[in-house]
Amino acid sequence: MLVNATAMLQSAAKGHYGIGAFNTNNLEWASSILDAAEELQSPLIIQCTAGAAKWQGGFKVCADIVRDLYEAKNITIPVALHLDHGSYEDCFKAMDAGFTSIMYDGSHEETFQINLDRTAELVKIAHNKGISIEAEVGGIGGVEDGVASSGELADPEECKAIADLGVDFLACGIGNIHGLYPENWAGLSFERLGEIKALTGDLPLVLHGGTGIPLDQIQKAISLGISKINVNTDLQVAFAKATREYIESGADQKGKGYDPRKLLKPGRDAIITRTKELIEDFGSTGKAWA
Ligand code: 13P
Repeated sequence: MLVNATAMLQSAAKGHYGIGAFNTNNLEWASSILDAAEELQSPLIIQCTAGAAKWQGGFKVCADIVRDLYEAKNITIPVALHLDHGSYEDCFKAMDAGFTSIMYDGSHEETFQINLDRTAELVKIAHNKGISIEAEVGGIGGVEDGVASSGELADPEECKAIADLGVDFLACGIGNIHGLYPENWAGLSFERLGEIKALTGDLPLVLHGGTGIPLDQIQKAISLGISKINVNTDLQVAFAKATREYIESGADQKGKGYDPRKLLKPGRDAIITRTKELIEDFGSTGKAWA
């Protein structure tokens, strides 16, 4: 059975390790991520955006794929299926479809008050269903034409206000950015992370934009209170690189090399390898039952 992400992230916060939240796009992704985490006996969060769910045919298809794979593969580790960056409406759709965890990203709402009110409402609804909920303070931008040199820094008082609503984990900007980091990126702000942690206590914090942050910075962030690390682009790059190598070697034109099971295998294997490396980096190997 899929679980919510609360207990595993509380254990991670107490044990000072991080749990990877890996984005799925389709069957290949979900299958590979599950295989990697099961092999290393790590707790796992598989997450999906509304866009990636739409690509797969909707939230229900995505949830069915993850749940059916979990059962068919006899997975033994705790796995949460989490909505990544959901709008208010997406949160209801994902809960109805069987997601065990949601993120309401109210950072783009017109006012902080709207973020606060909607988060409060969704906390009650999610908790009534046994579903965990992540909220966000301060937008986590993407690179705009390679010119962004630093991500946003969340306001610690706003983080406290959202934490006090009873969310299970909180995403807060500490200079992180989605996608690949520009060369002139200023790095994570450990000062701001410390200020947020001081006001939010034991609440597990979430680091978005996990792709490309130097490992020493990730590990320092984990030691200062980050428990969930979101990774999306990294696995996309790994899949694309392995697939490109397969095609460029001409393998798809030899024999039945065009068979999707052959064509997609290098990419699938690359996702497994990279997910395992990241789990090791975050320190959650062997922590399935911690
Ligand atoms: P990256 O694509 O930068 O790894 O970010 C993933 C993420 O934060 C998803 O919410």
